[in-house]
Amino acid sequence: MAGRFITFEGIDGSGKSTQSRRFVETLRATGQDVILTREPGGSTGAEQIRELVLTGDPDRWSAETELLLFTAARRDHLEKTIEPALAAGRTIVCDRFADSTRVYQGATRGDLRAKVDALHTLMIGREPDLTFIIDMDPTIALERGLARKSGEDRFEDFGLGFQETLRHGFLAIANTFANRCIVIDGNRTADQIASEIAAYA
Ligand code: ADP
Ligand code: TYD
Repeated sequence: MAGRFITFEGIDGSGKSTQSRRFVETLRATGQDVILTREPGGSTGAEQIRELVLTGDPDRWSAETELLLFTAARRDHLEKTIEPALAAGRTIVCDRFADSTRVYQGATRGDLRAKVDALHTLMIGREPDLTFIIDMDPTIALERGLARKSGEDRFEDFGLGFQETLRHGFLAIANTFANRCIVIDGNRTADQIASEIAAYA
């Protein structure tokens, strides 16, 4: 039996990494065999591409070039990590996936959504079984994200207006893919959010 493919999405600093970790602990406590992974990254080659896209000047890449780099990273992640694990019946919990490309590359700097969708169909062709979209006020999320000082802040450096656009983009995704997306209110404590999500274990 194939495993479940579960993703977490949302704006920068919304608590995806925290909640993916917490959900993996919950799933493991019920005896499920789970892999926690992330995008961009999750395989050796994709982690190398991650460094290229997340560091440096915000203008370093156009949205079009980013789309190609994120898709290349995703293809490697899919081949090396996701597909083999699902085929072996393991559950995958992934911090970001194709919805991030639909929003960050598809709907922020011009309307590239048709190109994003075409490339996804051509090169990826897989959707998650379940997606948690953590929704929250970008002002607070941006403060949380930048406070981390991760050195991977290229997207945070686009500023608050960009994060507002992203928030609306993710809510639109939740409507379009209503069969697999659940919107979670991120303006609560990590414990409150984790216990709501735990119901889906
Ligand atoms: P993301 O992966 O979406 O960028 P993180 O999980 O890394 O978000 O969280 C960003 C920062 O906010 C971290 O420092 C984290 O400890 C903190 N944080 C996460 N969830 C909450 C929450 N519900 N309330 C307050 N702070 C939080
Ligand atoms: P992430 O490490 O999840 O950052 P954060 O913790 O700040 O949310 O993701 C890295 C950045 O890459 C994030 O700003 C979103 C961006 N991104 C895209 O632009 N397109 C994509 O396809 C993916 C997966 C991420």
